[in-house]
Amino acid sequence: MTDWIRRWKEGKIGWHNESINESLIGHIDCLGLNTGDTVFVPLCGKSKDMIHFMQEGFKVIGVEISELGVKQFFDENHISYSVKELENFIVYYNNKISIYCGDFFDLSSNMLESISGTYDRASLIALSGNLRQKYANHLYSIIPYSSSMLLLTVNYPQHQMSGPPFAVNDDEVQLLYGKGLDCQLIECIEDSEMEPKFLQAGVDFFQTAAYCLRKDRESYE
Ligand SMILES: C[S@@+](CC[C@H](N)C(=O)[O-])C[C@H]1O[C@@H](n2cnc3c(N)ncnc32)[C@H](O)[C@@H]1O
Repeated sequence: MTDWIRRWKEGKIGWHNESINESLIGHIDCLGLNTGDTVFVPLCGKSKDMIHFMQEGFKVIGVEISELGVKQFFDENHISYSVKELENFIVYYNNKISIYCGDFFDLSSNMLESISGTYDRASLIALSGNLRQKYANHLYSIIPYSSSMLLLTVNYPQHQMSGPPFAVNDDEVQLLYGKGLDCQLIECIEDSEMEPKFLQAGVDFFQTAAYCLRKDRESYE
């Protein structure tokens, strides 16, 4: 059993918010979506942000390794679904949302052909250092050209507290994505109302940042 599946079973899902993420509301325009477009939400959990996308007229494709998390998403939001098997995944879907239950690293580009944007909140930063490079490489390889991404990160002195969420600073974002994606920092704020666990750890600073990225052929060449 992976650590994540255990967390879901034990209800230790402190990352989950019942409200829509403020940075998503503030920066959704970065995705440049039109009504009916599809957004990819990697490592989606049961995020309410997926409800927000649907309410705004977009479709959603998510991927989540915990079946419990996927079922809770549909049940708690009273959304009906069908189920099918597709390669290594069980897909829970209706005409607005498909959540691929399985390992992100098994997703292939043909499954994401229809997406116009990607939304990463608490996904990259959920992963430890060596996995982040693997995640970014795989994400880059499966999202289509001419698609955008809204990436939310946190940064704090990693030596003062262990993750997740892990600290990801600007240099690392540029290192992970700067080669293949046009990468703009759109917001970086010093968070004075930091979560209790950061306060308790006594970290010297805590920042949140938002990036708008775009995969264009020209940014690679
Ligand atoms: C920190 S949570 C964030 C969830 C969501 N993005 C949110 O904002 O609520 C990370 C999620 O990624 C899932 N996860 C971790 N590794 C995964 C993998 N390799 N493939 C698919 N899901 C994974 C975990 O089960 C967990 O639900």
